[in-house]
Amino acid sequence: MATAPKRRKVLNAGITDNAEQATDHSLRPQRLAEFIGQAKIREQLEVFIAAARNRREPLDHVLLVSPPGLGKTTLATVIANEMNAGLRITSGPALERPGDAAAALTALQAGDVLFIDEIHRLHPAIEESMYSALEDRRFDVMVGDGSAAAAAVSLDLEPFTLVGATTRAGMMTSPLRDRFGIQLRLDFYPVTELAEIVRRSAQLLNAPIDDPAIGEIAGRSRGTPRIANRLLRRVRDFAQVRGSGQIDMDAARQALQLLEVDERGLDALDMRYLEALAVNFGGGPAGLETLAVAISESPDTVENFVEPFLIQQGYVARTPRGRISTEHAWKLLGVKKPNGPPLLDDL
Ligand SMILES: Nc1ncnc2c1ncn2[C@@H]1O[C@H](COP(=O)(O)OP(=O)(O)OP(=O)(O)O)[C@@H](O)[C@H]1O
Ligand SMILES: [Mg+2]
Repeated sequence: MATAPKRRKVLNAGITDNAEQATDHSLRPQRLAEFIGQAKIREQLEVFIAAARNRREPLDHVLLVSPPGLGKTTLATVIANEMNAGLRITSGPALERPGDAAAALTALQAGDVLFIDEIHRLHPAIEESMYSALEDRRFDVMVGDGSAAAAAVSLDLEPFTLVGATTRAGMMTSPLRDRFGIQLRLDFYPVTELAEIVRRSAQLLNAPIDDPAIGEIAGRSRGTPRIANRLLRRVRDFAQVRGSGQIDMDAARQALQLLEVDERGLDALDMRYLEALAVNFGGGPAGLETLAVAISESPDTVENFVEPFLIQQGYVARTPRGRISTEHAWKLLGVKKPNGPPLLDDL
């Protein structure tokens, strides 16, 4: 296993490859030591990987849970690299029929890592067949057309590691969730760690940047490495065209203002959401669908991209009756809470 040549196959085609995605790829940490932040997760992985390698066994199955852009795909790559294993990549929606899953699983060689992105979107029939694949390395599939000739075939699988990623652990059934021996939840990154990520990315991009500018970009990145890298590239563009090429505080501030990202990292969509909840719905409780319609976004975008950060930052609370604005949000917006106590500023 340890000497197996690396194989990288992308099973789900249709991923458009543009220049930005290519640089995204080049910025992606390849080893655990390059992975910045998430100290607890790194430490756990270090131990589990070392132990598995020592026993010459594949790593136990890993479930990665986090809002978008926090490093799930990156960690899947890192795990395969650290295990010196081949990596195959697919996603829940790409596996349409049980046969697709059978093909993906039987293509695995001993020790390989199979990465299933958006694993909460696995077809229920496939999800059920995965139980025995994960537990007993057996995948049962029906062959034939459902007529009398159809038969159940049990396929033996090589020892492998499934790395599943999801933004929505709650949408997975517990039997599937429970079969992952290692479950890791990535949190939003503190500004200090985002600063390290910006510094590392600037170095890889050969972009000259000073400390204040690094801090400014990090502080406005919504706790998210993907956003930090994106803002860095945009600020670099700005510094190149409007300035000397050197990324300093001035360039950073001007570019970020142009991008409508405020000092807290809140962007125009965040503000639209907070205003809709506070003003249109009097601070809630408002349902997800209603709110999504009010700001012309899909409920999926609102729930996955917008809300997690706003909730983590304490602007919004999720209650059984719907979303509500918090004091923090009323203060930010400078709007009076209907029938609420006066704001501190008014006293
Ligand atoms: N800990 C980290 N250190 C340095 N860079 C990171 C880290 N985590 C993520 N990144 C950078 O952020 C980008 C986005 O990360 P990644 O694609 O792994 O997120 P994801 O959780 O898979 O997102 P999605 O849910 O949208 O699939 C990566 O290209 C990588 O460059
Ligand atoms: Mg990903």
